[in-house]
Amino acid sequence: MMEEKHSMEEERSSERMQVLYQKKPCYEIVFSKTFSGLREELSALECGEKRLCIVTDSKVDELYGEEVLHLLDGKCKKAVKYVFPQGEENKTLDTVKGIYRFLIEEGFDRKDMLLALGGGVAGDITGYAAATYLRGIDYVQIPTTLLSQADSSIGGKTGVDFDGFKNMVGAFKMPRLVYMNLGVLQTLDDRQYFAGFAEIMKHGLIRDAMFYEWLIENMYEICERDLNVLQEMMVRSCNVKRLVVEKDPTEQGDRALLNFGHTIGHAIEKAKNFELYHGECVALGAVAAAYISWKKELLTMEEYYEVRDMFVPFYLPISVDNIDPREILRLTKSDKKMESGRIKFVLLKKIGKAVIDRTVTDEEILAAINEINFSEEDAHA
Ligand code: GLY
Repeated sequence: MMEEKHSMEEERSSERMQVLYQKKPCYEIVFSKTFSGLREELSALECGEKRLCIVTDSKVDELYGEEVLHLLDGKCKKAVKYVFPQGEENKTLDTVKGIYRFLIEEGFDRKDMLLALGGGVAGDITGYAAATYLRGIDYVQIPTTLLSQADSSIGGKTGVDFDGFKNMVGAFKMPRLVYMNLGVLQTLDDRQYFAGFAEIMKHGLIRDAMFYEWLIENMYEICERDLNVLQEMMVRSCNVKRLVVEKDPTEQGDRALLNFGHTIGHAIEKAKNFELYHGECVALGAVAAAYISWKKELLTMEEYYEVRDMFVPFYLPISVDNIDPREILRLTKSDKKMESGRIKFVLLKKIGKAVIDRTVTDEEILAAINEINFSEEDAHA
C-alpha cells in the first residue's frame, strides 16, 4: 500500500512542475508543462465512479478537446464533452441552459463532475453551471489562456454576463482542482498572450512590489516565453491571488483589491462592444486608476508614469481612441462595484500596496478617462 502510494506520488511529481495549496477553501493549483498529469490528478480526486463532462468552446475544442477527452479514458465511469460557440457574447444563461440539458440527457447526478477547458469564458460558465446544476456539483479548472491561468481560474468566481452587464449573475463556487498546462502558453497568439499580463502586473502592483520589479527585470525572457521564467512568474502571480482569496473568499473586504483596473476597464470593455480583450481594458483601467492615485497624492508623478509605461513593453494599450468620457463614466457607475451608491475604487497607495477608496468624484474619473483618451489632436501633435 505504501509502495503504491509512493509510486503514485512519483508519477504525479514527474508531471507537476510546482503546486500551490489554496488552504481555505482547500484545493490544489498544479503547474505542469503538458496535459498528461491530469490523469493522476483525477485519480487523486477519486473519479473512478464519476461521470465527467468537459465543457469547452469551439476554438479550444479544436486545439485540445480530443487530447483531454482521451486522457480521461479509464479514469472515470463515463467521459463526455460539451462544446459551445467561442466568444464573450456566448457567456450567457442560454449557454448555461445548453449545458444543463446536456447533463440531464447524459444522466449526470450530484456526484459527477465538470471540467472547464479553455479561457475565462469557459471557466466562468462551467463554474456557474457546476454551482447551480442539482444545487451544486464539483468542477475542475483547466485554463488555457494566460489571462485565465493568472486570474479567473483561481478563487471560485463563476458567472455569466446579463443584458450586456459583465458577470452580473453568478455564484462563488470553488473548484476541486486547478490544473495549468503552461506549455499551452507557447502557442497563444501574441495579442492573447500579452493581454494576460494586465492581471499579472496587477498582482505585483496591488500586493507584491518585489514581484513587480522581477517582471521588469525579466521582461526579455517573458516576451520570449522562456518556460522556466514563465513558471516562476505564474507561481508568484498565482500566489498573490491565492493569499488574497484565502483571506476573503467571498469579497467582503480585501478581495476587492483584485478589482484594480477593472472599474473603468469594464466600462471600456462594454463601450467598445467587447472588441478589446479583457486584459487590454484592465491595462487601460489600471492606468486610469494609477492616474487618480497620483492626483490624490497617493503616488508620485514618477511612480504614475512608471506604472503607465510598464504596460508598453508587454504590448498593452495605455490609451484608447473613440471613447466618450461621459459614456464611460455612466457605464462605470452602472458596474456592480458600487456600494450604497458610491463607487468602490481601487487605488494605489504605493507600488505593491492597493487601497479601497470611496471618495473618487465624477470629475476625477472624467480626468482619468481623458488621460487615457487618445484623441485626433494627440495624433496630429
Ligand atoms: N478577478 C478578481 C477576483 O477573482 O476576485
